[in-house]
Amino acid sequence: MNTEVFFEDFSGLAKRNLSSEVVFITDEHLYQLYSHLLTPFSTIVIESGEDHKVWASVEYVIEQLLKLGVHRKSLIVGFGGGMVTDLTGFVASVYMRGINFALIPTSLLGMVDAAIGGKTAINFKSFKNIIGTFSPPKWILLDEQWLNTLPEEAYRSGLSEVLKYALITNNRFYQWIYENTDKILKKEPSAVRYFIEQSQLIKRNIVETDPYEKAERKWLNFGHTLGHAIENQNKLPHGLAVAVGMMFASEISVRMGLLKQTELDILKKNYQALNLPSSVSFDKELALKAIFNDKKRTSSGVDFILLKSVGEAVTHHFMFLELKQWIDDLC
Ligand SMILES: NC(=O)c1ccc[n+]([C@@H]2O[C@H](COP(=O)([O-])OP(=O)(O)OC[C@H]3O[C@@H](n4cnc5c(N)ncnc54)[C@H](O)[C@@H]3O)[C@@H](O)[C@H]2O)c1
Ligand SMILES: [Zn+2]
Repeated sequence: MNTEVFFEDFSGLAKRNLSSEVVFITDEHLYQLYSHLLTPFSTIVIESGEDHKVWASVEYVIEQLLKLGVHRKSLIVGFGGGMVTDLTGFVASVYMRGINFALIPTSLLGMVDAAIGGKTAINFKSFKNIIGTFSPPKWILLDEQWLNTLPEEAYRSGLSEVLKYALITNNRFYQWIYENTDKILKKEPSAVRYFIEQSQLIKRNIVETDPYEKAERKWLNFGHTLGHAIENQNKLPHGLAVAVGMMFASEISVRMGLLKQTELDILKKNYQALNLPSSVSFDKELALKAIFNDKKRTSSGVDFILLKSVGEAVTHHFMFLELKQWIDDLC
């Protein structure tokens, strides 16, 4: 199924002829902020936060769907950050063997990443996103107005993923970001709309070209090998941990004779302008353990994403020992 992605003011939803058989799923935090907009719809509210992206919430939502008489022809709409959109997609893909769902991502990470690409998931015990399905939403509504209530740190965390898309695929987009950091940080609506549009297009393109992560889709993991490994121990928001990981990978790219030193110097300036962290101190042993246990590892090591130049990614297989050496040298 092809997902329709469109920019529209939330009030424009009414024009889409949504019948009463629409049920919204959101988290309590967003419900507090936006319940006045949701009054026309039946709404299921789950607790906020990653700890609630679990079976217990799935059971709760399914109980509510049954109470509301939700059936195969109904539409479930996930309204929230990546936690809500992941959980909504998962529930919709298994309830009655799968019913239609749509997403209205409200966090920047949701708009440019989590809602795009058709992956749904919940966490199980200490395993993140270990239970899930591939199931695309019917439509995704993008509306930058939600970002006005998003905390600043969460906004920067999303910006890091935006920068990632530019770095791995598109030098022109990267130049645009470099020249518009002021507008981006001030959330100037046309600039925000532009970078969201570019980002989701890049992700959709990659996912369509390589749905099973054999080649290009791996590039989306740029900055994520070290990023994931330090996210937990440093209690960093995901995108900020990825920013540190992207800088680490860029430094390696220079040392391996791929990226030019001048490109790295400009990237560092861009980081400063966007207020993204280039490095943090962390426990190397713990980080290596996390990399070793990552679900994206292979038996001998990890497929690590480097930059050939700004706008061009390349996959390089590192043995664990090599990666340990780079961490010892650079971190
Ligand atoms: N499916 C995928 O391909 C994919 C890709 C990347 C990330 N993810 C998932 O996305 C999740 C992270 O997403 P997230 O950072 O949006 O987390 P989140 O959904 O937990 O949101 C973080 C916090 O921000 C609040 N929030 C969201 N939008 C807001 C707004 N407009 N105003 C005020 N507060 C708002 C939420 O209520 C929550 O408290 C993780 O579970 C991750 O696994 C999925
Ligand atoms: Zn990410």
